Amino acid sequence: MITCNCAPCHHFVVFNAMAVNVQIFTGTFIHCKKIDEPEVIEDGVMVIHCQKIVHIGDSSTYDKQRKSFPTAEIIKLTPTQILIPGLIDTHIHAPQYPNSGLGYDKPLLEWLTAYTYPTETLFKESAFAQLVYDAVVRKTIAHGTTTAAYFATIFKDTNLLLADACIKNGQRAFIGKVNMITLAPKDYIETRESSIADTKQFIKDVYAKKSDLVQPIITPRFALSVDTELMLDLADIVEEFDLNIQTHISENKEEIDQVKKAYGMGYAEAYDNARLLTPKTILAHGIYLEDDELKLLEKKGTSISHCPSSNTLLKSGMCDVRKILKAKVKVGLGTDVAGGAQPSIIEAMRKAIEVSTCISFGKNCCYQPLNYAEVFYLATLGGAAALGIEEKVGNFEVGKEFDAVIVDMDVKNSAVDYFKRCTPLELLQKFIFLGDDRNVINVFVQGKKVKGGDSH
Ligand code: GUN
Ligand code: ZN
Repeated sequence: MITCNCAPCHHFVVFNAMAVNVQIFTGTFIHCKKIDEPEVIEDGVMVIHCQKIVHIGDSSTYDKQRKSFPTAEIIKLTPTQILIPGLIDTHIHAPQYPNSGLGYDKPLLEWLTAYTYPTETLFKESAFAQLVYDAVVRKTIAHGTTTAAYFATIFKDTNLLLADACIKNGQRAFIGKVNMITLAPKDYIETRESSIADTKQFIKDVYAKKSDLVQPIITPRFALSVDTELMLDLADIVEEFDLNIQTHISENKEEIDQVKKAYGMGYAEAYDNARLLTPKTILAHGIYLEDDELKLLEKKGTSISHCPSSNTLLKSGMCDVRKILKAKVKVGLGTDVAGGAQPSIIEAMRKAIEVSTCISFGKNCCYQPLNYAEVFYLATLGGAAALGIEEKVGNFEVGKEFDAVIVDMDVKNSAVDYFKRCTPLELLQKFIFLGDDRNVINVFVQGKKVKGGDSH
């Protein structure tokens, strides 16, 4: 019997040195500490011990690390590979995955009624829910998503199958039981009482799984699905359990008009009035937020999930992320499946650049559209900060949990042909502009390989 003395687990007793789970990565690592400059570590050495990063250095540190951890697994990146932090999807609807690629002929409110609610209603059924939830978790992991903030449905019991799928497949996730008591079909609506009771039960059931991968998140669908009284009850639950919150805001002009009529105030104010704007709240879209609303979000520490594909496909509008960042509001990226068609944050990165570039055409020459380095930040550390987990994940720092992706830009039968040696930042650019799941070779969550090799 030996005791492991490393920093993250110095009290951990193991029965055999081989059981100490250590990996040593060598090669090129790219991550962000700030928004505008990705840090490149060439010829790097990174040691992962019991889920956490315990060492990052250059190649001169290799021998010493190898001696300290003689049984470590060595993972040597090739010259066309880079190690990047896991991608973070800050807004995705798991039960809408069957609708991916369908129904983009209607604007938001009609789309919800015609396509979205009927599909979510099917999740009353466990067998269907299990099939779809397992598929969406596997598909997002395949695209490099190590953390996802999921909307599930109003059905508390089958929502747990989404938590199970994340635990089984090894994805970090926030899982939201949706609250909907108004403006919904009669077979997909709750009473005020059942909405609150089911939310509390769902939270207990997720905690009962005792998994540090999944946690519940309070999820009023949007202002038009709830009312102030229900949101205030949800705010009490948030405070009792110290929970994150996710919902939608200012996505579509018709929606915004209806919110103003229903609440007699602006969208952000309606949420603030119900104590739902906190430093652990993430609001999807925010395309039409007014300056005073951005100020309010900044003051509250509330974040925006930017969902460029969905905003385009549902013809909602173009979100000016530069303006939101200037207002010092935190931003992450979301696929918003199935408002967005693809379960890929790689795609969200390039769409964020495209939309920002289109916005710049109508501005003067001082306006800078988002560049590849900035969207890489939004997809990693930015997303982590938006979800309030930046102390744990988002980049490569000693002490953080190891959520990471090995990207290879020279993969046969992928979308990319590779001709001449690229610099690390060129490999990253090719990944952002051309990459897909074929370029995602391995995915690690908490140091465990969840894609590639013997992971599935
Ligand atoms: N607003 C309320 N519900 C939804 C949804 O499911 N998707 C999107 N994009 N917006 C919403
Ligand atoms: Zn959404």
